[in-house]
Amino acid sequence: MSSALHPDGKLNPADTIANPSSHETIRDLIETRLFTRRTFIKGSLGATALATVGGSLLSCVANDASAHKYKGDHKPVDQQPDIGFTPVAPNVIPMTDAVTVPAGYTARVLVSWGDSLTKAPHWDPSMPMDEATQVRCYGGHTDGMHYFAFPFTGHGALASKRGLLVTNSEYVDPALLSGVAPAADYAKVAITPEMVKAQQAGHGVNVVEIYQEKKQDWEVRRNSPFNRRITGNTPIVVSGPAAGHAMLRTEADNKGRLVLGTLNNCANGYTPWGTYLTCEENFNGYFGSVDASFVPTAHENRYGISRAGFGYRWHEADARFDLSANRNEPNRFGWVVEIDPWDPKSKPIKRTALGRFKHESAAISVDADERVALYMGDDERNEYVYKFVCARRYNKRNQHANRDMLDNGTLYVAKFNADGSGTWLPLIWGQNGLTPENGFADQAEVLIKARQAGDRLGATMMDRPEWASVHPSTGEVYLTLTNNSRRGNTPVSSNKADGTTTAATANPVVDAANPRPDNDYGHIIRWREDGDTVTATSFVWDIFVQCGDKATTKALAGSYTNAEFDGQNVGYQGNINGDDYGAPDGLWFDKHGRLWIQTDQPGDAKGDWANIGGNMMLCADPTTGETRRFLTAPPHAEVTGLIGTPDGKTMFVGIQHPGEDWATSFTDHSTWPDNGANGPTTYRGRGVAKPRSSVIVITKDDGGVIGT
Ligand code: FEO
Ligand code: CA
Ligand code: CA
Repeated sequence: MSSALHPDGKLNPADTIANPSSHETIRDLIETRLFTRRTFIKGSLGATALATVGGSLLSCVANDASAHKYKGDHKPVDQQPDIGFTPVAPNVIPMTDAVTVPAGYTARVLVSWGDSLTKAPHWDPSMPMDEATQVRCYGGHTDGMHYFAFPFTGHGALASKRGLLVTNSEYVDPALLSGVAPAADYAKVAITPEMVKAQQAGHGVNVVEIYQEKKQDWEVRRNSPFNRRITGNTPIVVSGPAAGHAMLRTEADNKGRLVLGTLNNCANGYTPWGTYLTCEENFNGYFGSVDASFVPTAHENRYGISRAGFGYRWHEADARFDLSANRNEPNRFGWVVEIDPWDPKSKPIKRTALGRFKHESAAISVDADERVALYMGDDERNEYVYKFVCARRYNKRNQHANRDMLDNGTLYVAKFNADGSGTWLPLIWGQNGLTPENGFADQAEVLIKARQAGDRLGATMMDRPEWASVHPSTGEVYLTLTNNSRRGNTPVSSNKADGTTTAATANPVVDAANPRPDNDYGHIIRWREDGDTVTATSFVWDIFVQCGDKATTKALAGSYTNAEFDGQNVGYQGNINGDDYGAPDGLWFDKHGRLWIQTDQPGDAKGDWANIGGNMMLCADPTTGETRRFLTAPPHAEVTGLIGTPDGKTMFVGIQHPGEDWATSFTDHSTWPDNGANGPTTYRGRGVAKPRSSVIVITKDDGGVIGT
């Protein structure tokens, strides 16, 4: 779209940079031999640790599809997950406008943007969206999700036939939603309060009751009392150490304890006590200033707050998003929000103890001692990885006692050392320079300014931390690092496909945990806590995989050649054992230990991505690294959000922003799902079909477990 939008050309780029510090410039890190998978297991953990991993070291629940009926699920680590399907081909140009899954599987549309969650009619996609319609219909750009089995179904087959699917609606395409075409004209039209309200209503969270009538046939229960939309205007309570802080107070909320809305809800988490966690990512893009003389403070710069924002232009019609009128409003976003899906009247809660940054996901782990931790990434170039450790133990017998677990605990930021060890650095006021003279008046300010706190502690700048997921039996945490065009080399000589050179002066150089300059294709890192307890302050780590295109002839810039990594290929070719992909983003371990990987690739089958094709979902064996492509998406769609039913026989997957291409009209590249490629949808040919973000449901034709 036009240059009035974000400079990167994407409305929700997740690819900006706000970290000017370059404290992790240890040039000789690159000399350090990277851990291989083999040395990680045998060298770092040692024979003793290896001998014990067959037992239940962690009763982690990251894969437990029925958190409301929490039960740890332990499988020996040496048991290979059964991956039995034949991979699908990449979706290369000319691209197929459909979701494709392997032979023997079926992918059908479950719910799409604008589908009614009540008995009132579905939205007619040929019309602009209005607020009244959007607040009762499925929201925009679907993202992270979780499936909550109905409590009375126990762990039997019924648990996998009826549940609440809770999903994020990360953002909207304002031109598509407000009926502005061509999309480039959105930068020029007059913005009305009605347009802004409708767009805000397209954000947030969806709680949707679903049920399986017969095999392959899941439906939305449109009149369910549980169905709920939480939007950019829903009242949300602020709790934890930053609640009520001066930096959170506004004229409309002079107590700083009640925010309207949750925005840019990217990925998610869930808790064993039956709640959903939704993570606020690129909140900064919604704010702007009508005052042309607006100059951001250092704090605002650190969070990417700018006069123009990303081009939504809400500030022109809603003073809440006008920085010249409401300077503190952005501080009220960038949090993890906890939602009780079982109580439609309950207010969601912003849990400030978990820190404020561009939250991607929140992966929970409960160890053998019932201690609870959440692993979280801050998705921006050169930002950090965090861990929150709850002060209290998880109480299995009294779920109510767990309700405020996330208000008390310690937030840590990660430092990945060159020798394969790592340290969790505590973000505690008064310690390690987190003091008033350095801009931290109290613990609330440490949390509101978590990024600056991480800077001060010398956390490791990462290649855009996206989702984390916890292995169901080992407790090892895997985390996607999607890409980083702002990591330099010495000397810097960019070899980006488009011929541009990355300005490198302020960029960190490569390090052991982020070993590629100008990291186009991304990688997946993993770590294991010392002592297999989530309260550990040290860990060991290695790189699970370097993503890339094995067929590319591109070489890394400068002096970094594959040979320097002792035979380990860390060039642009990557070292995937199986089907190629890049820009890993969504990540989820199913309970059998299959690692599902979703991609958010830029370029979409062009340039560096010609062989890899469009976005996809893959399934990997965490032990062997074997990787097979399970699903490909329509053109210009991202694959993001996934969860299985407890029996593993149904999987829900998010297909976000089909056809999103800001350079052209929105109808040019996709009419999915209303083209019927994955079964009938609610659209009935009333006008121009708009591409619509949707959740698909995947079943195996023989009724078996997905992935086998
Ligand atoms: Fe919303 Fe970092 O992806
Ligand atoms: Ca993401
Ligand atoms: Ca992404």
